[in-house]
Amino acid sequence: MVRFISNPSSGKMGYAIAEAARQRGAEVILVSGPTNLTLPAGVKPHSVRTACEMHEAVMREFDTADVVIKAAAVSDYRPKQFIPYKVKKTDDVRMVELVRNPDILAELGQRKGKRVLVGFAAETEELLANAQKKVQAKHLDMIVANDVGQLGIGFQSDENKVLILHDNGRLEDLPLMSKQQLAHEILDRVVERLRGID
Ligand code: CTP
Repeated sequence: MVRFISNPSSGKMGYAIAEAARQRGAEVILVSGPTNLTLPAGVKPHSVRTACEMHEAVMREFDTADVVIKAAAVSDYRPKQFIPYKVKKTDDVRMVELVRNPDILAELGQRKGKRVLVGFAAETEELLANAQKKVQAKHLDMIVANDVGQLGIGFQSDENKVLILHDNGRLEDLPLMSKQQLAHEILDRVVERLRGID
């Protein structure tokens, strides 16, 4: 591909969760877009390039999963037209028509069954209200909400400061911590869910 639409997500959060889950003995499948990160030992990779490929991969792996943690910053739109060569410039204004990508997590929510579903919410305003809406709309057990407008946390950084909002309304305001630590905090709560404690 010569040009494409993406975002500055590094994949660090997803890789940290995959590694932490593997350390705890889980069988882990990591569906990942392109990153510069090293695949954690013992994790089964499923590499994708586009949101549509991610959709297909996640749906294929979903049946065998007990837990899905959806940390990917999936693009909501893709160009309607794929041009398989480099477009030459002209003096005209150019418009790119965008069409919606599938909302992978919302679709998983529809088919949730007994699985534990964890989403992420990247927001720049109304963090809590928007995260609340996503928990309900996507039928999640919990959502990890972070303010991507703040420097030094979230996208690309090694640390994150998040709220965890549960479907029963419980709200946790976690301190700033490394993505490795946060991965374990999230998994502690997933384990509670699996054991029916929460
Ligand atoms: N997500 C997804 N498929 C998409 C878009 C998002 O599975 N096409 C997932 C993300 O992986 C994340 C959650 O949905 O776990 C929320 O993503 P986010 O980008 O915060 O919000 P959106 O649902 O896309 O809503 P909006 O763009 O309106 O904020």
